[in-house]
Amino acid sequence: MQIPFMRLDRQFANHRQEFMNAVETVFTHGKVLQAKEVSDLEERVAGFFSLPHAVAVGSGTDALILGMKALGLKPGGKVAVTSLSFVASASAIVHAGGVPVFVDVEDEHYMAREDVLLDLVASGKVDGVVAVHLYGQMTELKEIYAEAKKRGVFVIEDAAQALGATRHGTPPGQYSDVTCVSFDPTKVIGAQGSGGLVLAREHHVAEHMKRLRYHGHAGQRVYTEIGHNSQLPTVQAAIIGAKLGHEEAWRLRRLEIAAAYTETLNRLPFASAPKVREGNTHIYHKYVMTVPNHRDALAAHLKAAGIGTSVHYSLPLNEQPCFAGIHQCVGDMAVVKRATQQVLSLPIYPEMTDEEVRYIREALKAFKA
Ligand SMILES: Cc1ncc(COP(=O)(O)O)c(C=O)c1O
Repeated sequence: MQIPFMRLDRQFANHRQEFMNAVETVFTHGKVLQAKEVSDLEERVAGFFSLPHAVAVGSGTDALILGMKALGLKPGGKVAVTSLSFVASASAIVHAGGVPVFVDVEDEHYMAREDVLLDLVASGKVDGVVAVHLYGQMTELKEIYAEAKKRGVFVIEDAAQALGATRHGTPPGQYSDVTCVSFDPTKVIGAQGSGGLVLAREHHVAEHMKRLRYHGHAGQRVYTEIGHNSQLPTVQAAIIGAKLGHEEAWRLRRLEIAAAYTETLNRLPFASAPKVREGNTHIYHKYVMTVPNHRDALAAHLKAAGIGTSVHYSLPLNEQPCFAGIHQCVGDMAVVKRATQQVLSLPIYPEMTDEEVRYIREALKAFKA
């Protein structure tokens, strides 16, 4: 049996008519940028996160960049960020003119150590924080945001992997100035290409991001600052809108698959299931197990059985060549280093069949460590 790590072809096969209708509507009316589908999507996603303002942009990366610019990041400003994430969580800081300050992770859920973030904010060592909700569950930000507010430090939530997640019953966005969403095709709600959206609690921040997304345009062909061209195409907004209607059903199916994997892993000595933090609902955007001693051998064993896996992530961000000479680190980064050698992600998408899930569980059991 062949089970690739991702199967967007199957998603399309299951929802072909709905997606094609969305595309046809846009091609027929012909307003391919900034049409009603875009503003409808903004309104819906704002409602989903219970936040007042949403600005659709070209990607999750742009959401982070525009967010930081609108929150006033100055050239050379320091921004604390986890050392375990997709590169964009930190490269966006550099794009926005800042310097990433990498923080080691805790070893349960692999998110940036909250005590270190709090200390950086309280001691005035950073101008901002990019808090990443990793793999599909949320980090805790209440205390960090309260301290940041007192000191004029901004907090941005990178919720690229956490659409649908909650902490103590509330979605991302409650303890930050700006929250960023990605509609990258690998995400739980993905465009047929790139897409992103940025949420804000303040009207003036949202208005600034709207100007930044289109060349600093303030109306009447007056451009008040150097901006970007980062518009979410109408056709992508229409497709994302269609997919959003399936968010709950898809999430529940991923949860079923995750529970099945966890049941198997709990009985195996060589790997452990992802830990869900108390108070969190995990959406399993990624199902990331920890394999302390035999990660690469297990990946090879699964590959031989036709099962695609992935590693999120294979290098601490502070070791990525693109940040050489343009970052700072807090601590010895020992936990993130270990994590990058032990994490392994299993396929998890709602279109997987029960038979495929069973096959993966059997393949895990058959591994001889
Ligand atoms: C945590 C995180 N932040 C930011 C991004 C960037 O989003 P995009 O690919 O839409 O630019 C991604 C994923 O792609 C991500 O996983």
